Amino acid sequence: MLNIVILAAGLGKRMQSDLPKVLHPLAGKPMLAHVLDNARKLNPDRIVVVVGHGADRVKAAFANQPDLQFALQVPQHGTGHAVQQAAALLLEGDTQQDATLVLYGDVPLVQAETLQRLLDARNQGMAVLTETLPDPTGYGRIVRNDKGEVVRIVEHKDASTAEHGINEVNTGILVAPTGKLKDWLSRINNDNAQGEYYLTDTVGLSVQDGLPVHAAQPSASWETLGVNSRVQQAQLERNWQGEQARRLLEQGVTLVDPARFDLRGSLVCGRDVFIDVGCVFEGRVELADGVRIGPHCVVKDAVIGAGTQVDAFSHIQEATIADDARIGPYARLRPGADIGSQAHVGNFVEIKKSTLGQGSKANHLAYIGDTQVGARVNIGAGTITCNYDGVNKHQTIIEDDAFIGSDTQLVAPVKVGRGATLGAGTTLTKDAPAGQLTISRSQQKTIEGWVRPVKKS
Ligand code: UD1
Ligand code: CA
Repeated sequence: MLNIVILAAGLGKRMQSDLPKVLHPLAGKPMLAHVLDNARKLNPDRIVVVVGHGADRVKAAFANQPDLQFALQVPQHGTGHAVQQAAALLLEGDTQQDATLVLYGDVPLVQAETLQRLLDARNQGMAVLTETLPDPTGYGRIVRNDKGEVVRIVEHKDASTAEHGINEVNTGILVAPTGKLKDWLSRINNDNAQGEYYLTDTVGLSVQDGLPVHAAQPSASWETLGVNSRVQQAQLERNWQGEQARRLLEQGVTLVDPARFDLRGSLVCGRDVFIDVGCVFEGRVELADGVRIGPHCVVKDAVIGAGTQVDAFSHIQEATIADDARIGPYARLRPGADIGSQAHVGNFVEIKKSTLGQGSKANHLAYIGDTQVGARVNIGAGTITCNYDGVNKHQTIIEDDAFIGSDTQLVAPVKVGRGATLGAGTTLTKDAPAGQLTISRSQQKTIEGWVRPVKKS
């Protein structure tokens, strides 16, 4: 049985925020959600989140996740006390493999591979995730005997001058045999510099009970960085964005500047994808082979087909674009936009809940909402589908090969037949028959002999 306990009761005073610390975002989602994502990759039998400060808000933010248990820690008397509050919820089988892994809600990026390595390092006693730092100030130190075995952890505030010289530190993350851990937690006291119940004191008890404590190290140093302030949050965000960029570069994606790339979700790329500077990807985005994204685009929950080019300053959300299309610059695709292959959507064109068929073009200044546009349709500049009557939304249908003249309004519900042409400036209130020119326009006239007024002196 594997239990994972996530400590998330602390105040996070230095964030200077009303929002509980673990709900502050990293790459667009709460820090605690990152911890949970990595925790779940280990297939634990139970996950317990220890909440305290802002407990109700933290619980509410994760209320829809039935695999989580919450333990309340009020007031907070230290990390050992925090794990004690979860003890009653920990599952125990009867094997040597029973273990409890302790994670911190404000250390969001420990990767599952590192955690697995920590679990594997454990034999019968505990295993602690440690790091060697040039400046270990503030951290608990790993005290080893002359055989190099871990014997205990001493907190910075309790350490002797000699112990302050130890560079190997406790990251805080550890794993212990569940039954023994409960026993050790019942034996620790708060007789120390901070008057707290230290989880780290269980390390010494494991050794005393003849169960050796092993150590493992993270693959990368950013994995164990914690967030105590906005500065650290911003730094960790850059670390993580750099790491995500590095992974994409290694997969063969071109990022013109990996330092000007932000991914808040997942991005799946085919071969030879090109991404210019300043783009933000959110939710789940797929870019097929050869897709090119111009500078400063925002793409959220979208699928973009092979060979499609998205030009600068385009905003795409919950949209699907087929192969070899041309989008932007300055295009806006809103939820439900479905753009066919080889279609063009140009500057200041907004498309919502509409399909644009193969090879169709809306190149300038248009609003297309609740509309089915067939193939090879040309939509002139300034075309607007009037889909909303102030109460209800209505559909527009534009069949294949239609030509919509500039500055046309299509008052839905309305249909333009196959191959129909609408003259510029038409306000279409009735269906336009296939293959014919439909136009609504007052007659043009010229006033003979008209003279401009002259300015009064
Ligand atoms: C802890 C470790 C220290 C380690 C350091 C790494 C102990 C005694 N010390 O110190 O060895 O080097 O982390 O950052 O464990 N928390 C609770 N309830 C509490 C106290 C803390 O939920 O009563 C949570 C905090 O919200 C935080 C985590 O536990 O997520 C660590 O607490 P923190 O106060 O940062 O621990 P340190 O004193 O820094
Ligand atoms: Ca800390």
